[in-house]
Amino acid sequence: MRLAVPLVLAALSLATLAATSQPPASAADPGSVALTPPMGWNSWNYFHGNVTQQDVQAAADAMASNGMRDAGYVYVNIDDTWQGQRDSNGVLHPNSKFPDMKALADYVHSKGLKLGIYSGPGPKTCAGYEGSYGHEQQDADLYASWGIDYLKYDLCSYIGVMQQTYPNDKAAQMKMMIAAYDKMHKALESTGRPIVFSLCQYGWDSVWEWAPSLGGNLWRTTGDIRPSWDSIYDILEQQAGLAQYAGPGHWNDPDMLEVGNGAEGRGGRIRYLSLAEDRSHFSMWAMLAAPLLAGNDLADMKPEILAILTNHDVIAIDQDRLGKQATRAYADGEVEVWTRHLEGGALAIAVLNAGSDRYSTHPFHLDLARLGLHGPQQGKDLWTGKEVTLTNDEPIEIASHDILLVRIPAPKH
Ligand code: GLA
Repeated sequence: MRLAVPLVLAALSLATLAATSQPPASAADPGSVALTPPMGWNSWNYFHGNVTQQDVQAAADAMASNGMRDAGYVYVNIDDTWQGQRDSNGVLHPNSKFPDMKALADYVHSKGLKLGIYSGPGPKTCAGYEGSYGHEQQDADLYASWGIDYLKYDLCSYIGVMQQTYPNDKAAQMKMMIAAYDKMHKALESTGRPIVFSLCQYGWDSVWEWAPSLGGNLWRTTGDIRPSWDSIYDILEQQAGLAQYAGPGHWNDPDMLEVGNGAEGRGGRIRYLSLAEDRSHFSMWAMLAAPLLAGNDLADMKPEILAILTNHDVIAIDQDRLGKQATRAYADGEVEVWTRHLEGGALAIAVLNAGSDRYSTHPFHLDLARLGLHGPQQGKDLWTGKEVTLTNDEPIEIASHDILLVRIPAPKH
């Protein structure tokens, strides 16, 4: 099921996608949704095309009872493969996996949570299900009638429409793409219901430059994440330089979390992310002010995974009200140092050992001056909960793919 995007991407050369387009003139209005990065769960990374109404309900049950809701997780998001057929009036009906969408929304709301859904501007979604092409307003109205609170809108087959309309004009194709997102934004707006608008078009045409002006609350910055360190690290590397585009109401989206997930390797064995990798992934997404959308099976989760997803100190970094995304201060070999400015003058520092030798630890000396800091810095290690003092002299030992995440309440500059 995780198919179409790479194929489509291959068909459309990235070089030709670099063409720039002017954002529409309408003013940015982040509204009252997503003033901090959205938190919740999405069905795709674990269930893919198999997700059912029962699975979504079970995820809502888990979130409401395992401490996640109280930690800030709100959205329960159905991804691709819920769609059935349109009737003679063009009204889309869910398929048999989702017998009653309104009842599901009511149920999710009764738990103090919100329900999200998925579509795209093309005739078909990435998994080949019914898209919103030619039915944008009708679909927006349908979502609002069900009580939907969040829409992920995935480009996918609209790429084909763009190419057919303007075969040799990439700039015109990009304009069409922007117009398609604008159209759905206006359709959502006209329902009068606050609905978070999530753009999924893999970062094309520097989406961060134009998405906020057409009501995008978040936008994917890359292709799809996978539950492997290489994928997580690759996506992280592509976030450097994007900090200036994030802020309350509009966020860079490095894709949904893979914490607790694994991929099938040789012989059908699942190779799960290590706890160090899960910690680093979660920490860096929090540093990036990324949406925190868990992507694992919440109804069947090990306590150590839940502990990562509900680390209040780390979530507080993500949800900091200033909404200032971290920047990479410097990299030294395979160690990266990122900093994020927080409310009240506090600073978060992440030191990530991206080195791949799993048996080694990595003695490392911080260079505080490169972070604009001078003298010993006192703070809290957000994974051990202990007070720490960071200096230039004390070596820091971080295991492969692990991270040191420290919050300094009163940094000395
Ligand atoms: C694309 C998106 C994924 C997921 C799938 C569903 O690949 O990038 O996040 O929504 O489509 O088909």
